[in-house]
Amino acid sequence: QSPDKNGFEHFMLKEIFEQPGVIKNIISNYADNKLFNSNNSFSKEELQNIDKIYIVACGTALHAGQSGKFAIEKFTKIPVLTDIASEFRYNNSFIDEKTLLIVISQSGETADTLGALEKGIKAKAKTLSITNVEDSTIAKTTDKSLYCNAGPEVSIASTKAYTAQVALIYLLSLDMAKKLKTIDDEDLSSILIELKKLPEKIEEILQNVDTIKNIANELKECQSMFYIGRGPDLITAKEGSLKLKETSYIHSEPFAAGELKHGTMALMDSSSKVIAVATQSNLSKKTATNVLELREKGVSVYSVGVEGDVLLEKNSNYTVFIPETLDVLSPILTVIPEQLIAYYTSLAKGIDVDHPRNLTKSVISE
Ligand code: AGP
Repeated sequence: QSPDKNGFEHFMLKEIFEQPGVIKNIISNYADNKLFNSNNSFSKEELQNIDKIYIVACGTALHAGQSGKFAIEKFTKIPVLTDIASEFRYNNSFIDEKTLLIVISQSGETADTLGALEKGIKAKAKTLSITNVEDSTIAKTTDKSLYCNAGPEVSIASTKAYTAQVALIYLLSLDMAKKLKTIDDEDLSSILIELKKLPEKIEEILQNVDTIKNIANELKECQSMFYIGRGPDLITAKEGSLKLKETSYIHSEPFAAGELKHGTMALMDSSSKVIAVATQSNLSKKTATNVLELREKGVSVYSVGVEGDVLLEKNSNYTVFIPETLDVLSPILTVIPEQLIAYYTSLAKGIDVDHPRNLTKSVISE
């Protein structure tokens, strides 16, 4: 049966609104001990033998891996390297039987991700995939495979597969940390409490789109813009930038906020527009200072911050707030306004948002 839009104007919007349900399903399966079994997760002994993890993917799936890296490193203490599949295939990478290679792909068919996986297998790495198509080539090729179960994603711009991939990495990192005993029971249960609150927090963001529509309206005429962030917020900046690019055809570049003064600041004048993501408790003040510096140059800055961040709000033209959560879990919330900004900007420009020009859902050639 072919998927329908369920009353939504576009598949992209429908899929954005499906996210609370998709995430709820993944988290309740974990809480009910139904998410991990011996077919899709490594044993304690196997994990004890891993000394590094590579996460390799393309586009949005890579951003999911880059967001998840923070959780894996925090909870398991295993170093994580991330790479673009088309680069990893031909790079000098340090993979051996002590490496876990995680490949992420919505379709499970992306040629470069498959090529990266084959390289890992040749080097005897342990392999795990996260896909949204259960019997895809990538899912069938890895030692272990995790399934997003997000339902078919029709829109070329990936949304619900992304948040499902991020949620699965959070839970994978907890499963690994439990087995490796790098997390104690008390921390584990408080993280789980926060995880369970995420679906209703996503819902809350989805119900407050007025500011997002105002931002989209201001962006629709611009030719070129920038996204900035620090730590996990830099990854959301990359994902927001990619989403805007592909749906609205606006040239957009993501930057580490701390890198602005090392070159990119020269581009900023009163015609520039920047989206700043600033949600990390130890970093948001620094980004808010960058926002102020940009405003002093006449730049229009729209920000995504945590409820109650008055400094960020004061320094920005508009601020979209996300509900408070643990720093490490915030990427799953910060991406929601970014997806909606991309959607409404595309809509304001009259672009066929579900079918951006020159793109295909699955890239099956190099
Ligand atoms: C997402 O919005 C993009 N259309 C694209 O970056 C996509 O995520 C990438 O091509 C990877 O596809 P995959 O997840 O099916 O491997």
